[in-house]
Amino acid sequence: MKILIIIANPKIDSFSFAMANKYKELATAKEYEVEIIDLYRTKYQQPFFTYEHANELKITPEMDYYQNKISQADELVFVFPYWWGSMPAILKNFIDWNFSRGFAFEYVNSRPKGLLLNKNVKIFTTTGAPSFIYKITGANNRLKKMFQKQIIEFCGMKLKSFNIYGGVDKSKTKTSDILNKIRL
Ligand SMILES: Cc1cc2nc3c(=O)[nH]c(=O)nc-3n(C[C@H](O)[C@H](O)[C@H](O)COP(=O)(O)O)c2cc1C
Repeated sequence: MKILIIIANPKIDSFSFAMANKYKELATAKEYEVEIIDLYRTKYQQPFFTYEHANELKITPEMDYYQNKISQADELVFVFPYWWGSMPAILKNFIDWNFSRGFAFEYVNSRPKGLLLNKNVKIFTTTGAPSFIYKITGANNRLKKMFQKQIIEFCGMKLKSFNIYGGVDKSKTKTSDILNKIRL
């Protein structure tokens, strides 16, 4: 099985990297093939997606590179900190560019049809606010549903797990407490 881990955190010493590395370790122990894409440091940087790009989308070398990686993967794992109730903009930009029409979805009789079949998606994220706040307000579920309905299932993929760890702060949280919860 091929796993593609996509990390969107500017800090190397972040919980995101710790979670991604732990996931990689567990997957490698099962002899799965794992590749990590570090969006802030990759040499295949993509500029901010503009109206001009959207209007007349031409495949760029970076899109070609990422779309090949996505096509080959059986599982996509997104790892990021929870920012403004959502994902960091760099991850959204990655989705805007690479989950493009004709590759990730198409329209048949005006209805969208996902093209990325037989792929599972897992999400790992951390929030600064305590989990109970997000459970009470429904914010956890909003992010999960948005990802699941608007991105993952829209493109024909399946959400396998959504993992959100609350109250995460470098000065107070022990990384090991989160890492012990990571499962394949
Ligand atoms: C730009 C920005 C936006 C953030 N927005 C939220 C938020 O909406 N809700 C929240 O609970 N924490 C928010 N946080 C806190 C991060 O979720 C928290 O710092 C992160 O999960 C800690 O993990 P890290 O040190 O691995 O990045 C935000 C942090 C930044 C820098």
